[in-house]
Amino acid sequence: MNESASRPPALDSLHDITLDLIHRRDLQAVLDTLLANMGPLLRSPSVSVDLLDGPDMIVTYAATPGQPLEVGDRMARGEGGFLTWQAIDSRAPVTLEDYSAWAQRRTLFEGYPIRAILIVPILYQQEVVGALNFLRLKQGDLFTQEDINIGVQLAKSVGLALENARIYTLLHERVDELARTSQELRDSQDQVIQQQREIAQIEERQRMGRDLHDSVSQSLHSLLLIAETLSGLIEKGQTPDALRLTSQLQETARQAIKETRLMLFESRSPLEEAAGDLPRALQARLDSVERRAGLRTRLTASGPLNECAPEIRDTLYWAATEGLNNALKHAQARQVLVTLAHDRQRVWLEVRDDGIGFNPAHLPGGGLGLSGAAERAALVNGKLEVKSAPGSGTSFSLTIPLEHTDA
Ligand SMILES: Nc1ncnc2c1ncn2[C@@H]1O[C@H](COP(=O)(O)OP(=O)(O)O)[C@@H](O)[C@H]1O
Ligand SMILES: [Mg+2]
Repeated sequence: MNESASRPPALDSLHDITLDLIHRRDLQAVLDTLLANMGPLLRSPSVSVDLLDGPDMIVTYAATPGQPLEVGDRMARGEGGFLTWQAIDSRAPVTLEDYSAWAQRRTLFEGYPIRAILIVPILYQQEVVGALNFLRLKQGDLFTQEDINIGVQLAKSVGLALENARIYTLLHERVDELARTSQELRDSQDQVIQQQREIAQIEERQRMGRDLHDSVSQSLHSLLLIAETLSGLIEKGQTPDALRLTSQLQETARQAIKETRLMLFESRSPLEEAAGDLPRALQARLDSVERRAGLRTRLTASGPLNECAPEIRDTLYWAATEGLNNALKHAQARQVLVTLAHDRQRVWLEVRDDGIGFNPAHLPGGGLGLSGAAERAALVNGKLEVKSAPGSGTSFSLTIPLEHTDA
């Protein structure tokens, strides 16, 4: 007690060394720091750190400059270092009062005036991994018990440094690995984004294809019909009728141009144009296309249709367009009835025409409209039904069940 109180600077210094060790990561730097501090602490001008390389070989890892021992020096068991091996094997500090008078001294130290020696084993996870060597050069300057205790503390610090170095190495490997993994992650994210872009492009192309099918091709179809009728009228010399039809031809061509522009430059759908109001959008369509084509039309809408989710309204509008286009193109109908109903359990759409009808079981093939409509309906759990028979018109209907969140 009295003795340690008389040497507080030594303990302070020990504390500083330990703190320094804990914060350092590179083993060699740690050992150099230790060396620079350990010597003055134990009044030892010559200090070295030896570590075991296998059970029978020690390697000098750090040594105070100016002494015969150098970093990297190797010494096998039996070659010398009798005292070092003794400290390692006994796991206890070893002291010698006067090395120069000792019979077993190494030839390496011949001419180097070593007197007292203190060797302390370094323990690392309960294993002896090496030894700390302190030399004194003045005769009679012996290592006291307190010096030995400090030496033991220093050896613990070296053990700690080794442990830290190992942990930091592991940490570094982890960090490198993490960096690699996050790079891989970034690469695959890039791939996903690239794929999403491609999918978006494909979807955009499909949308254009559908729009083309729904709008411009319908107008072109009408143009063809009008042109055929026109040539008949001209052949028969019915000039006033032909002139009337010519203005219809112009109007339809204008419409086609408008639709093309709309398709290419504007992505707003007619439903968006009607602010999402489904009956209003359908009425606008009937007015601008079917009525102009000379069909009688009627729209019946009931229930809170506009409370449907936007994608359901979208699907309904799109399906109605498909049904109407078919009636216009294929049915030779005189009238077309559109019904929309919402009874809170499901929403229902029907497009019914009084045209020539067909056998839905024997489709001519090639048409994408009905199969596309069925696929699109399925996306919102909807079911498409086409009822028709030659000579008795066609009913095209879509039923979408509504999900209920309230009890
Ligand atoms: N309302 C209808 N009246 C008469 N035939 C129709 C009607 N709807 C569809 N069809 C027949 O079914 C076929 C397939 O229709 P669809 O799949 O929409 O293809 P598309 O309209 O491109 O020809 C049409 O080619 C037509 O022969
Ligand atoms: Mg069609």
